[in-house]
Amino acid sequence: MSIRARRGAWILAPAATVLLILGVTAASRTVAHHIFAADSREQTINKKVDALLAKMTLAEKFGQLEMAGPDGANGTPGPLLLQNAKAGLVGSVLDLVGVNNINQAQQAALQSRLHIPLIFSLDVIHGYQTIFPVPLMEASSWDLAAITRDEAVSASEATADGIKWTFNPMVDIARDPRWGRVVEGAGEDPYLGSAVAAAKVAGYQGSDYSRLDKMAATVKHFAAYGAPVAGREYNTVDMSTQQLFNDYLPPYKAAVNAGVATVMSAFNSLNGVPASGDPYLLKQILRQMWDFKGAVVSDYQAVQELVEFGFAANEQDAARLALTAGVDIEMGVQVPSINSTYTNFGPALVTSGKVSIAQVNADVRHVLRLKYLAGVFDHPFTDPTRVQHAELTPANLAAARTIADESSVLLRNENALPLPKSTGSIAVVGPLADNAADQLGSNVPIGQNAVAVAHTTTVLQGVKNAVPSATVTYAQGCDTACTSSAGFGAAVQAANAAQRTVVVVGEPASYSGEASSRSDISLPGQQLALVQAIAATGKPYVVVLMNGRPLTIGWLADNAPGLLESWYPGTEGGNAVADVLFGSVNPSGKLPMTFPRNVGQIPISYNELPTGRPADPNNKYTSKYLDVPNTPQYPFGFGLSYTTFQFSNLRLSSSSVGTHGSLTVRADITNTGTTSGTDVAQLYIHDRVASVLQPVRKLAGFQRVSIAGGQTRTVTFTLGPSQLGYYDNNGHFGVEPGAFDVYVGDSSVGGLSGQLSVQ
Ligand code: BGC
Repeated sequence: MSIRARRGAWILAPAATVLLILGVTAASRTVAHHIFAADSREQTINKKVDALLAKMTLAEKFGQLEMAGPDGANGTPGPLLLQNAKAGLVGSVLDLVGVNNINQAQQAALQSRLHIPLIFSLDVIHGYQTIFPVPLMEASSWDLAAITRDEAVSASEATADGIKWTFNPMVDIARDPRWGRVVEGAGEDPYLGSAVAAAKVAGYQGSDYSRLDKMAATVKHFAAYGAPVAGREYNTVDMSTQQLFNDYLPPYKAAVNAGVATVMSAFNSLNGVPASGDPYLLKQILRQMWDFKGAVVSDYQAVQELVEFGFAANEQDAARLALTAGVDIEMGVQVPSINSTYTNFGPALVTSGKVSIAQVNADVRHVLRLKYLAGVFDHPFTDPTRVQHAELTPANLAAARTIADESSVLLRNENALPLPKSTGSIAVVGPLADNAADQLGSNVPIGQNAVAVAHTTTVLQGVKNAVPSATVTYAQGCDTACTSSAGFGAAVQAANAAQRTVVVVGEPASYSGEASSRSDISLPGQQLALVQAIAATGKPYVVVLMNGRPLTIGWLADNAPGLLESWYPGTEGGNAVADVLFGSVNPSGKLPMTFPRNVGQIPISYNELPTGRPADPNNKYTSKYLDVPNTPQYPFGFGLSYTTFQFSNLRLSSSSVGTHGSLTVRADITNTGTTSGTDVAQLYIHDRVASVLQPVRKLAGFQRVSIAGGQTRTVTFTLGPSQLGYYDNNGHFGVEPGAFDVYVGDSSVGGLSGQLSVQ
């Protein structure tokens, strides 16, 4: 690691510092023992891989690089898949679900000449049958332990069905809520995003993903897929090296450091080169700089798409470019025929010398290693009876409720919430009030939708469960598209007849996720008019939002007496929303992504760079809009509680620190109300003068703290080179001496402030 002195000279940090930063001490025998055990396992696996590789034909080698899909009726393994598996021409299978289908395909693979088992992969994104809140909502909990636990539940459910490999976590940083896939990530911040990435890998994989209830994870989409121009899906990404390294790469790197098994190359181009054909990303950064040892899989048909990009002349050229760039496995699946460019053109590319056999051997090694580490050689089949004990268990459902409780974000409360449990009559209104399918959000795994929907508690049911003695009425008002106001009358009538109304509005699940960019991110159709019709009754009401991205909700932010962001809260979402509405749970979620006031402010994030002309209302020639303030509707890190917290007594262990050193930052938080609550204390820093401009604020630590009413707790953060430093435009990391601002609070705006000098 090199540490750069101000404007130029680079000093080498001693290896001990690096180990210290990683939390490793020479005296740590346990760590040494694990490293030794891991090394010897790695050596054993290497030997087995070598032995197998020596026996493989070129066609069999390319077989391992082939990811096929189900070609039979209703997603079953059809004749082609079975035949190719028997011939050793398939390495992995995507989207084949059902333990019997999987075992059948595995049986065929084990009949192949070398008996190499298949590995089965699927998008298991926020649950398998027990559906957790969508990833953007999970991140709103800022609860890493809960996130790890949820992914462990996902792994235990999916592996019971034979799926040993998930294409998650998606860690693409995003500052543009028009992009539909913001729902799948952890939002806009590299520090939070990195922590969540590592927590997810730990949950899926544990310390050993050969265990029957663990699975290999995939960090995706490498790289910078979350920054398409204009928020339009699959669009161009073009960014500076410093932005790439400081803001977009850290979560992928965190996943790699956490031992993620595989990396998925992205669909997008980055700086003019498609990511799935880019050796700079896949070799230089991933293999050389980060020492990644796992397998790289392309995104779905991303290799073929090198032709459409105008990067490859034809499919043969595409195969050559992807192979030499470092894509090990081609997800080329085109059902029913195998259409991957690797299988079709790979062997000829090798015999003609256009691709080296050394490259292909390296790719195959990565795949075989993955299979050994995932335990599929030792346990190729899945016991079909495991499903009954693993999926939708009470413990899994309880975990889903807990994280949904923790990750709803209270955006506004004019004494409207919590609703009294003594309320005698409640109207539950709106297109998402009793809508299990949409409440689950996008990315329910293939084949699991019906069972997931059947086990989902909607808000209507959740309210009934929470206040069993109340009279609860329901009126949909309109469907999610809300093109007609015909049902508004019944909704208004229900509101008029009830003491309180809960209006649940938002986007249908299909409005976010892949290929779901929107140019208008307000409530769809006439949904706002529905809320306004309820408001016009003059009766007390609150609004619950379900959506997969920050929305533009100016009217609600100004007028709704109570406003709860519940994203897509999953299977237990209705109970969790009711927990918060009736005060059984005090809300503690904080936004992981900025809410803009309007689409014109996008891209927007709290950690913007300073300008030479900061906004000044008295000076026209400063950086601002004529028609909207620069400030967002709701900032990153924001979220209210039913109690109030006060931060005080910011103290630094030292007012100065060396470029290699660390210090502690402490602050007290007092719950100034009577109800116990949980706040997320957030540490931000700002490097005042830097050779490459540094964000006006950047998150450098966070902690969830539960505090009883009237009590005070102290939070402690460690601040060191990893947070104080940054990457320059050559991709070099360093800490520059100079003055830093330090902030501690519970949002990216305001908080206590102090100063620090790095020397
Ligand atoms: C998505 C990936 C996903 C893959 C397999 C692609 O379209 O971009 O995120 O893992 O499909 O389902």
